[in-house]
Amino acid sequence: MARKFFSIVIVLLAIVFWFSSAANQSTMHPTYIQPVKVTYNADVKPIIVSKCAPCHLDEGNEVSYDNYASAKQDIDDIIRSIKLNPGQHGYMPAKNPKLSDSLIHVFEQWKTDSLLEK
Ligand code: HEC
Repeated sequence: MARKFFSIVIVLLAIVFWFSSAANQSTMHPTYIQPVKVTYNADVKPIIVSKCAPCHLDEGNEVSYDNYASAKQDIDDIIRSIKLNPGQHGYMPAKNPKLSDSLIHVFEQWKTDSLLEK
């Protein structure tokens, strides 16, 4: 009788131990979700291609922002000009409606995230 009781206790302890070691494993290897950063290729370029066209695309134009290097170099001018209102000197996109706050925020966040290309 005592022997039977003892073996039940052993089995229960084994189950408890198995569960707790399984739990430990998941805390040792937590699923780490990396915060997504704004990049030129994924986030900024598509906005430029759709909102700053055709004036800032291609080499031949005033300032072409469909390449990473020049967009990066002019980021402060870009942010300043898109935050102006239509009619103000230097407002961009020229001759077009103002960008939404969320699109403007993408440029600001790109700078905050240190102007990554991809
Ligand atoms: C309809 C044409 C047109 C569109 C659309 C347009 N731009 Fe421009 N942009 C110009 C012209 C022309 C100039 C240069 C003359 C000037 O300074 O007004 C310029 C100048 C600029 C400059 C100043 C560059 C410098 O070094 O002097 C910035 C920054 C700029 N644009 C950003 C943008 C951004 C960002 C967009 C899109 C959200 C945009 N523009 C859309 C025509 C345009």
